Amino acid sequence: MKKTQAKAPGKLYIAGEYAVVEPGYPAIIVAVDRFITVDVSPAEENSGSIYSTVLSSDNIKWKRHHNQILFTPSVPKAEIIQAAMTAAEEYIRSIIPDIPYYDVTITSDMVNDQGVKYGLGSSGAVTVALIQALLKAFSVQYTSLLLYKLAAVAHLSLNSSGSFGDLAAASFTGMIAYASFNKQSVRDQLETRSIKDIVETEWEDLFIEQLPPLKDLSLLVGWTGSPASTESLVSHVAHSRETLSYDQFLSESKGCVNRLITAIKQQDTSAILTEVAINRQLLLKMSHSKQFELETPLLSKLCSISEAHHATAKTSGAGGGDCGIALIPRDADRDAIVNEWSKAGITSLPLTVYTH
Ligand code: PMV
Ligand code: MG
Repeated sequence: MKKTQAKAPGKLYIAGEYAVVEPGYPAIIVAVDRFITVDVSPAEENSGSIYSTVLSSDNIKWKRHHNQILFTPSVPKAEIIQAAMTAAEEYIRSIIPDIPYYDVTITSDMVNDQGVKYGLGSSGAVTVALIQALLKAFSVQYTSLLLYKLAAVAHLSLNSSGSFGDLAAASFTGMIAYASFNKQSVRDQLETRSIKDIVETEWEDLFIEQLPPLKDLSLLVGWTGSPASTESLVSHVAHSRETLSYDQFLSESKGCVNRLITAIKQQDTSAILTEVAINRQLLLKMSHSKQFELETPLLSKLCSISEAHHATAKTSGAGGGDCGIALIPRDADRDAIVNEWSKAGITSLPLTVYTH
């Protein structure tokens, strides 16, 4: 093996949140230039170590027992690291039967100076960066799709409830249209078939397409603080009683995002702005029906300030805090939006779309 480094970007949703949790329902996601970086090097002892600024604990030691990876101490937040190593090793073992021990170092710039997360999807990026670093270290060929699928297998093993859109954005980078796969079908296959077989077959409903960068619109990201738990919001939406039909939300979201995909491909700026605004309203209506606060007062303020300056804005991701995005036409006053956001207590983040 060789000493290597890999990095994976954070992400932000442009449209299609919540609906994308259902297989086959599209969202648009961009990778942004904040990264998780993973260094891997051959271990000197007959065990490996993990050092991560993302974890609170000190060094973790790891060993294998019948190909199973064991951490001491077993840190709860390290589950994702363990799952990513397991998926990567299972795949690598189909090519290199004896994998030596290695040391892993993980660093992140997805937090601010106080260590607060911006909600850019660091656990998804850790998974993708770690898998990529291991494939590189053992000189195993990979594509973006292979990275995504191995990362998805890792997250499936943790029973994550999300759409795995963060994994797709971190693997493919740039702007993508994404629809998630049928989890049950892949889970069933994992019971009987090898991981190599599974990642080489087509996954039902999975759709990932690279979209061109926006020519006449710039992205501005505002952070409103109060990090929200995506997992608990998604589970609230899945379990709460509703006054309007969720099926109707799903089909309206699909229609809207599909029109948005077409508009992006055609660089039709006014249609892009219209569809993003429609997606905001669809999400708001859904959240009222499900009785949860998608747009906090500060996120609503972020949107109204943007609109006053002829930009279109919405919450990004699960809502309830964290980030909102604005798409700003060339002739709109970007600085004025930044200033008014700042007066309202919204931090604009110096992020741009990252394409590998
Ligand atoms: O809050 P974020 O950026 O992690 O995005 C969550 C998006 C949801 O559609 C609400 C959930 C998901 O996993 O897709
Ligand atoms: Mg979030």
